[in-house]
This record gives sequence, C-alpha cells and structure tokens, in this order.
Amino acid sequence: MLAMSAEQDVPILIRNLRKTFPLKWRRGSVVAIDHLDLEVRRGEVFGLLGPNGSGKSTTLKVLLGLLRPTEGEVRLFGESVATVACRRRLGYLPESPYFYKFLSGEETLRFFGRICGMGGQELERRVDELIELVGLEHGRYRPLSGYSKGMLQRIGLAQALLHDPELLLLDEPTAGVDPLGSREMKDLILELKRRGKTIVLSSHLLDQVEEVCDRVVILNLGRKILEGRLEELLVREGKMSITVSEFGEGDLSRVKARLESEGLRVEEIEPPKMTLEELFIRRVEETSGREAVARKEAEVGS
Ligand SMILES: Nc1ncnc2c1ncn2[C@@H]1O[C@H](COP(=O)(O)OP(=O)(O)OP(=O)(O)O)[C@@H](O)[C@H]1O
Ligand SMILES: [Mg+2]
Repeated sequence: MLAMSAEQDVPILIRNLRKTFPLKWRRGSVVAIDHLDLEVRRGEVFGLLGPNGSGKSTTLKVLLGLLRPTEGEVRLFGESVATVACRRRLGYLPESPYFYKFLSGEETLRFFGRICGMGGQELERRVDELIELVGLEHGRYRPLSGYSKGMLQRIGLAQALLHDPELLLLDEPTAGVDPLGSREMKDLILELKRRGKTIVLSSHLLDQVEEVCDRVVILNLGRKILEGRLEELLVREGKMSITVSEFGEGDLSRVKARLESEGLRVEEIEPPKMTLEELFIRRVEETSGREAVARKEAEVGS
C-alpha cells in the first residue's frame, strides 16, 4: 500500500522504454528510443535535451499516449498512460502547434476549452486568467495569422494550461523565438513551477534550459548519455571564482601575489562577463522599452 501511494506521487516513471519505427519496404526499423529509464519528480522542471533526432519528441509523444511503446513501461502518477484519467492531468505544447489562423487569441482558447469539456462562466474566467498570465492582452482580439512566433508559443502555452493540468510537457517551447520572447517563456515556466506544476521541456538550446531546469537528461541516438541536477553537473570541482567590486588595474598583481603566498594556484583572473542574451535584452529594452515591444507585436497583428 505504501509503495502504491509513493508511485502515485511520481508524475512520470519510464522503465526500459524502447520505441522503434518500421522502415518502408521491410528494410528494418529506426530505433528512436533505446532502453530509456527516467523518473520526473513532483514540482521539478525537467529538461529533456539532445541533438536533432535523439528521441525527445518521441519520448513526449509516448508520455501523451500518442505513440505506443515497442517495449517497456510508462506510468503517469502511478497509472498506465493508456488510461484517460491520468492524461487529464497533462498539458502539452507540441513542437509546431497547429492553430486556426483566422481565430483570435481568445477564440482559440475558447475553442480548445470546449474540446476539453469546459464552457460558460468557468471557461470565460479561465480565458481571462490565461491571457493575462501569458501576457497576450494586446493579442486577445487579433487573428492568429498576425501573431509573431513568440506570441504563438504563448497562446500555445495558454492552450496547454486550460484544464489546469498538474504536469506540463513542452516540446521546444522557445524554438524560433527571439531572446526577449524566450526570456518571457522562461519566466512563465518559473512562475508555473512556483504554482506547483511539474514541467518537462525538451530542447537542444542548452543555454535556454540552463536557467530553468532543476534536472536534465541528455539523449543521443535514443539513449541516455547523461543525467543529473544542473547545479551539480555544471560545477567545476575544486575551483572557486570570486567577484570583487571596485577592482582597479593596480590591484591585480597585489591580489595574485597574496593568493599565491597563501599557497593557492591562480589559473585565471578576468572581469566577469554577462551572457550575450543579457546584453541583447538590456540593449533592446534600453532602446525601445518592453511596452514598445508589445506595441510592435500589436502592430504586427493589425
Ligand atoms: N513517425 C516516425 N516514423 C519514422 N521515424 C520516426 C518517426 N518519428 C520519429 N522518427 C525517428 O525517430 C528518431 C527520433 O526522432 P524525434 O522526433 O523524437 O527526435 P527529436 O529529439 O525530437 O529531434 P528534433 O530536435 O529534431 O525535434 C529520429 O531518427 C526520427 O527520424
Ligand atoms: Mg523534436
């Protein structure tokens, strides 16, 4: 009984998963996932990383029940993915979401809400909440044909959140989105984590997942080649960098000599750098301001 309740608490459990696709003309098969074991814990942001064709989307589709495993076991909250009940607890943002371009942002959400069995005041309230959450007030009444890529990803995320799922699967949520848009997507993911959601996101843009993921797995050719907590994986054992404010040129030799006199070997002393993303966002915001960017999005849509 104890073991059962523990398993119900695990959003995703994959054991020995293998997925192959038959090739045409009986020329064998492609191995998309090769004996994969994975566990995603409640409340974490989990990154599914890997180069193109490594099996990220296939893994997500198996979790959604869209593809059947060739071998192995996949459980969501302790239940087999074949049951509809556990799929209700899932939200999904596909790799390239398909929307009706002539519908506006709010009409799109209403449409998907009705598919989920929602309606009336409850649906209207939810549409309001989600449009605000994803910051699309300016795109609310505009047809999706005029949306930028970043806006489409945000309406896609709102769609995935309609039925308030506990577990979110996001396939390349920042693909094709500019640094400002992907910053917003990352902030949204962190906000959803704060609200207690468990999130799995796939990406091959490593710097984009670095800030949001607690744990990652790296796949290559369908196999797991690395797994762990990011803060542990990225730490350089036995090294320390110290950032000093008001550091003058003359301080360099003094500090170096002092450290060496303490028996420490100084490998490098250099000014701390910001990332190119930080620089980009800072400059864009300085020159136009966030509101101007929203206005631009609004113009694109008109
Ligand atoms: N429906 C399918 N039929 C045949 N082969 C498939 C199918 N879906 C995926 N594959 C193959 O399975 C492997 C994994 O594909 P998958 O789409 O999961 O990779 P991915 O990691 O999501 O890649 P990307 O970064 O390009 O999105 C690839 O070799 C792909 O060609
Ligand atoms: Mg993919």
